[in-house]
Amino acid sequence: MSPPDPVPFDDPAGTWNRRFSQDGYLFGVEPNAWLREQAHHWQAGQHILSVADGEGRNSVWLARQGLLVDAFDIADVGVAKARRLATSQGVAVNFSVADCDGFAWPQAHYDGVAAIFVQFADPALRTRLFAHIVDCLKPGGVLVLQGYTPKQLDYRTGGPPHASHLYTDAMLREAFASMDVTVLREYEAEVSEGSGHHGRSALIGLVARRR
Ligand SMILES: C[S@@+](CC[C@H](N)C(=O)[O-])C[C@H]1O[C@@H](n2cnc3c(N)ncnc32)[C@H](O)[C@@H]1O
Repeated sequence: MSPPDPVPFDDPAGTWNRRFSQDGYLFGVEPNAWLREQAHHWQAGQHILSVADGEGRNSVWLARQGLLVDAFDIADVGVAKARRLATSQGVAVNFSVADCDGFAWPQAHYDGVAAIFVQFADPALRTRLFAHIVDCLKPGGVLVLQGYTPKQLDYRTGGPPHASHLYTDAMLREAFASMDVTVLREYEAEVSEGSGHHGRSALIGLVARRR
């Protein structure tokens, strides 16, 4: 039998603000590799939401591709750094500080959603978050999502130490059963994303289109 999950932290904004208060960018300033690989599903001028965007590496890179980007995160320290990153790279991103329950999710609005390492969500929060993600996409809109699989608990090179937060192929297929899943890949890779995600990692990437 597996050991019980450790209790997740109960002050996510405070915890992430402390992490983001360190010098430098915890996950670097380059975009996540899965996002970079799959961003061809979107065209310049389309409207994209970057969920729990952290210090802005993904939203800023998307804006540099000519996309119109909204982004939110619970951690105001992260969002302040994201704003500085956007300014330093000469792009505009519509940032807000919000948690994923409180964000003003529009309905059927976005051409795309980027959800990269949003595994802070326990199963109940994840159900609400994924429902918001599906609902905020236009028909034909594309979700690009990346997370860790349970095998990551052996590597411990990033991500939460909670099995219930991690993704399996079957779980993502069920969660996004209302969408057309066009890519679902479980794989391992050497990740080098700042000091936050570093080393051999057990990953899963999904691309799904809203019907
Ligand atoms: C592993 S980091 C990933 C950040 C970003 N997506 C990236 O790939 O660089 C997880 C992010 O989730 C944010 N977060 C944690 N709980 C949240 C919540 N309830 N609502 C919104 N954001 C949250 C944290 O502040 C942090 O920026």
